[in-house]
Amino acid sequence: MNKIVFFISIFFFSILVKAQENSFIPQPESVVFTSGGFHLNSDTKVYVPSKYITDLQSIVTSELAKDTGLDISIHKGKTKVNSNYILFQKVKDASIDPEGYVLEISTEKIIIKAKDYAGLFNGFQTLRQAIPVGANGATAIPSMMVTDNPRFHWRGVLLDVSRHFQTKAFVLKQIDVLSSYKINIFHLHLTDDQGWRIEIKKYPNLTKKGAWRADRTGIAWWSREHATADEPKTVGGFYTQEDLKDIIAYAKTRNVEIIPEIDVPAHSKALIAAYPHLFCYDEVPEGVNFEVAVGGKAPDNALCAGKETTYEFLEDVIKEVAALFPSNYLHIGGDECNKSNWKKCPHCQKVKEDNNLKDEEELQSYFIQRMHKIVTAQNKTMIGWDEVLSGNGVKGATIMAWRRGKHTPELQAPREGYPTIMTSYLHSYISRVQGPTIMEPEGPNSVLPLSVVYNHEPVPEELTPEEARLVLGNQASLWGEFTPTEEHFEYMLYPRTLASAEVSWSNPKVKNWERFQHALETSHFERLKRENVNVAKSLFTVYPAFGIDQLHSKAIVYLETEAVGYDIYYTTNGDDPTIKATKYEGDFTATPKSLLKAGLFNKTGDLLGEITEVRLK
Ligand code: ACM
Ligand code: ZN
Repeated sequence: MNKIVFFISIFFFSILVKAQENSFIPQPESVVFTSGGFHLNSDTKVYVPSKYITDLQSIVTSELAKDTGLDISIHKGKTKVNSNYILFQKVKDASIDPEGYVLEISTEKIIIKAKDYAGLFNGFQTLRQAIPVGANGATAIPSMMVTDNPRFHWRGVLLDVSRHFQTKAFVLKQIDVLSSYKINIFHLHLTDDQGWRIEIKKYPNLTKKGAWRADRTGIAWWSREHATADEPKTVGGFYTQEDLKDIIAYAKTRNVEIIPEIDVPAHSKALIAAYPHLFCYDEVPEGVNFEVAVGGKAPDNALCAGKETTYEFLEDVIKEVAALFPSNYLHIGGDECNKSNWKKCPHCQKVKEDNNLKDEEELQSYFIQRMHKIVTAQNKTMIGWDEVLSGNGVKGATIMAWRRGKHTPELQAPREGYPTIMTSYLHSYISRVQGPTIMEPEGPNSVLPLSVVYNHEPVPEELTPEEARLVLGNQASLWGEFTPTEEHFEYMLYPRTLASAEVSWSNPKVKNWERFQHALETSHFERLKRENVNVAKSLFTVYPAFGIDQLHSKAIVYLETEAVGYDIYYTTNGDDPTIKATKYEGDFTATPKSLLKAGLFNKTGDLLGEITEVRLK
């Protein structure tokens, strides 16, 4: 190599190292950069263990093609060349945990070592992130040694496909994207008041009737009139069992486990619409509506806890669901049960008396415990939302702790010995909007910025080490009321699921908000764009706050962003700000009623998010 080429290549690699240094999501346990780098090109050969060739071949070929445009050949077994290869190696190494890996990139070769398929898959995803974003053809990857293990096994995302049905193709796309960030659990909320989304062969009316509702598109979710019996029911959809088998099989190759949720006894309006005999009364009372709910309000949505037919029906449903999903877990919901009908229902009251149940909370426990028997008879572990702790609880179940504040299931569940999954509505309900509400699409009137998701610590410090060991992990939950389109659904998922992925995977010691948001800006927004994902850039939105000083006739303005390390520029004359406008250095005064426009800019002068506009009055 002549001196100039040598100098250029050293220089090139040092630029690459700088670019790559801080761009992994989730951040690995340890990354040590060494000198030089690996030249990936069309002659590079990939070797994978024979038993994984079927699964890895298509993933590795298609993803390297997507990342670089290169068509790279995959071979099974041991390496047959001395250099320019990528080796997937299954090892018995005590320092590597399940799903963990070691990734070694050097000038001659790249080796991914793991003790299981999941670790090889995860190591490959880290390798993909080491490839310079935007590579097109042969490319250089800086040398480095990455050692990495997951903090939690449960690294989940909940997709509510009931409130708005999402197609199989869309779910597969999310599996692709989220598994590349080491998300390994997809919790499918398959049933709710607004739609039943899973084919049950024994009860075809669940999808024939329960999957379809009257069209109220364009009317605010909370103001929708109930459907009538003779209206056409055109909005909805469902997965056949074959669809779900395809999703499960696809997910497995990407180290993703699908957890089905059948939400009972409440949130069951669609089920009751399909099979009204499972409601409390034998005669439909005046004013009770038995159509699939069209929006927010869904009264009379609890199954009767007193009729034996309810349990027989649910046992049939659970048997089919258990047979379909290979996961050891089956989620039965159990949340937000309005018990007013139970209080009046002769069947519910009889069961209460016959079983010496003190009140309807204990009747709920009775229901949940019967569900627990049904689920465990199928050799599955039952998961319930934290309301299942009420009354007498349900020993042997796993708890999904969502409430915070007045209720403290995040403490109660592990203290009572329950394995617990954290999905705090305050930190992980990504159905909440993610920036100033004036700037965001329709959603609940409640803000969950990216930084709050990122900075969440899912293990409460009040727990003893023994109790803390019962925390299985963390989950971001996307409820679907306000996300009718795929674009909007993705907008809510990204980038907050990436923040949640880092909470779930990375050791808190390596987490760093500034590094994370910089990685998004310089690398992952572009990677996600390449996957045709619609991401929100709300972290760059300027939050305005102002007060009017009537006495002196001036507005006092204060601006803030959750992103750090960038500059805000603003105008009050109606022009869109650029870096030639006034730089925000602290609160300032302006003329009341003027139009404030503010934006966030990086050091090269690019506008990062949208421009915030607000009239100062
Ligand atoms: C829930 O948010 N009702 C689980
Ligand atoms: Zn009843």
